[in-house]
Amino acid sequence: MLLEVRDLQVEFKTRDGIAKAVNGVTYSVAAGETLAVLGESGSGKSVTAQAVMGILDMPPGRITGGEIVFQGQDLLKLKEDERRKIRGSGMAMIFQDALSSLNPVLSVGAQLGEMYSVHRGMSRADAKAKAVELMDRVRIPAAKERVGQYPHQFSGGMRQRIMIAMAMALEPALIIADEPTTALDVTVQAQVMDLLAELQREMNMGLILITHDLGVVADVADRIAVMYAGRIVEEAPVHEIYKAPAHPYTRGLLDSIPRLDQKGQELYAIKGLPPNLMHIPSGCAFHPRCPMAQDVCRTDIPPLANVSEGRRSACHFWKECLNG
Ligand SMILES: Nc1ncnc2c1ncn2[C@@H]1O[C@H](COP(=O)(O)OP(=O)(O)O)[C@@H](O)[C@H]1O
Ligand SMILES: [Mg+2]
Repeated sequence: MLLEVRDLQVEFKTRDGIAKAVNGVTYSVAAGETLAVLGESGSGKSVTAQAVMGILDMPPGRITGGEIVFQGQDLLKLKEDERRKIRGSGMAMIFQDALSSLNPVLSVGAQLGEMYSVHRGMSRADAKAKAVELMDRVRIPAAKERVGQYPHQFSGGMRQRIMIAMAMALEPALIIADEPTTALDVTVQAQVMDLLAELQREMNMGLILITHDLGVVADVADRIAVMYAGRIVEEAPVHEIYKAPAHPYTRGLLDSIPRLDQKGQELYAIKGLPPNLMHIPSGCAFHPRCPMAQDVCRTDIPPLANVSEGRRSACHFWKECLNG
């Protein structure tokens, strides 16, 4: 296995108390596999990813438990300089907002080239040639002419391609893409997602694709992990989850995707709000919003039960959910 996150726990110390952002997340990604991580805003998707990348804000954040095993090594036991080496060449991250991740006063060619001059000790001329090659690879038109331009001179979609190029530069084994297309227009979203999926296949990379949009993952993901209040509530091969969810929260997410054949109808929305991470509800954290909740859901945390091969659900009533 390329990456195994085991029982990861992260909390944040805030003025108002301790926010329990990640409460025992376990997931894995194999080489060449795409795992989509799904869940409403605040469910702990980014914090989990930041812990894997080693870029968590500490303090206020603190990892209070678990392991992050990457290529056989527990990253949480490594020193910071060893971690730094893994970032970039072993794993890389793509963020939602390219404009704030790229350096505004350096040309994109200089930033792409830096990946090679700093990490690989290439000469400036060679690094620049590599930068053009990368821009071609992510299909930025007229790469040779545009290599000297600055981030603000590119459109949002092109900037996101540059981010992808930066992440891919050192051919990492794992890419984490955190809402990589959320800030883009719908048509551009699909193009950028297709490019990412294509490069991932070509380079046989593991990909963690974080999104709150179930609509975008159907075509690109192999498996889906659904997060709620810092836990995985359902994990399944992607086609199975679309056929029949085994958790009422997943069902709620699926029902709230706009569908072309239901134009004009009011969109379903999961009632209520995501929980306050300072006071996570007892039992199943989703119970106050769950249409299927019973007494046991208020008292007992449901274990992540095996539903079938490669499929797990943390719902006391997953069988009923699956059949309903
Ligand atoms: N830098 C931070 N300082 C304090 N709390 C944070 C910080 N980052 C995240 N959190 C807490 O962790 C929760 C989960 O955040 P995040 O993982 O970013 O959610 P998402 O699933 O939307 O990516 C947030 O709602 C917040 O309570
Ligand atoms: Mg996030």
